[in-house]
Amino acid sequence: MELKLDLEDPAGFAAVDPSDMLGAVERFGDQVREALSIGRSVADLPPAEGLHAVVVLGMGGSGISGDVVSVLAPPAGLRAPVVTVKGYSLPSWVDSSTLVFAVSYSGNTEETLDCFDQAAEAGARLVAVTSGGRLAELAGESGITTFRIPGGMQPRASLGYLFVPILCCLEGMGIVEGTTAALAGAAGMLDERSSEFGRDSGLDSNPTKRLAKDLAGYVPVIYGSEGPLSVAALRWKAQLNENAKVPAFHNSFPELNHNETVGWQNLEEFGSSCHLVVLRERGEHPRVEKRIDITLDLLSGSIGHTAQVCARGENPVERLLDLMYFGDFTSVYLALALGQDPTPVRRIEELKKRLAG
Ligand code: PA5
Repeated sequence: MELKLDLEDPAGFAAVDPSDMLGAVERFGDQVREALSIGRSVADLPPAEGLHAVVVLGMGGSGISGDVVSVLAPPAGLRAPVVTVKGYSLPSWVDSSTLVFAVSYSGNTEETLDCFDQAAEAGARLVAVTSGGRLAELAGESGITTFRIPGGMQPRASLGYLFVPILCCLEGMGIVEGTTAALAGAAGMLDERSSEFGRDSGLDSNPTKRLAKDLAGYVPVIYGSEGPLSVAALRWKAQLNENAKVPAFHNSFPELNHNETVGWQNLEEFGSSCHLVVLRERGEHPRVEKRIDITLDLLSGSIGHTAQVCARGENPVERLLDLMYFGDFTSVYLALALGQDPTPVRRIEELKKRLAG
């Protein structure tokens, strides 16, 4: 496909990306450092005694913070399950032994506010993460622990602000350990990746620009595997949707071997218009490794193109951030290559406006 913009020429980027989404992505390491200091600055944390479960309420770019925490907190010592609620219904088991994080970048997302009310009604221990809006008002009125994050950005460009305070809170409560130190180290790794993946790094040295070029004109299908790689696959899919404005789908090994692997057998034309990206990491479960090999063999001929991206990093925090970061850059470069401004999400705004009307 002929690209609308030359990815080798950063001078042309501002015309397509006037709000500088690429710059926001490039500065993610700084965001993680700032989020750590916001997270550490809040002292009135809920008690940890008798805690049985952690729930994160949030939608879209905010809700993924719960998915991130659900894979990073248990290996850091959290003994309670983490459940992310993306909708209007709070689980009936939420009670005073449940810690509930209400996460909404705008503070005005109706599903999150609805569940927040239900959680308050159920007597849950509440924490808010928001840049303002109704959630900040409600939390302020009730004296609820609040992590106030900077406003004026797109929620999906604020991922660090959204999930880091949750880990700081859990660590401050004494129920996870080591995540903030790992995040501080990961911020340095993100700076290095930013130089490697940033606008001034040409196609030869920048794998995210190369992948974006390859994805242009195709439907991206992102496969992860159970745990962090599945969260990374979800992040890739959402970033490709919202930044590049393309349909994109994700799934995870081993579950996809029990259904989707068969689904590629038909609709050859559709399959040939898809580009599969498999997210990998060293030390993945040996049976998953074998499944991926076999699956790629079975699907060869059914899918247009396939690429693999392997996580780098010293620990689970770094590997997850590394993979998500790769996807963030790829999605913005794909937007530029397609001549799409990565920032506006008009259909989300229009939908919210019509729902409010
Ligand atoms: O990326 C987006 O803009 C959306 O996915 C939003 O994050 C989602 O609609 C929820 O809004 P908020 O993050 O303000 O709660």
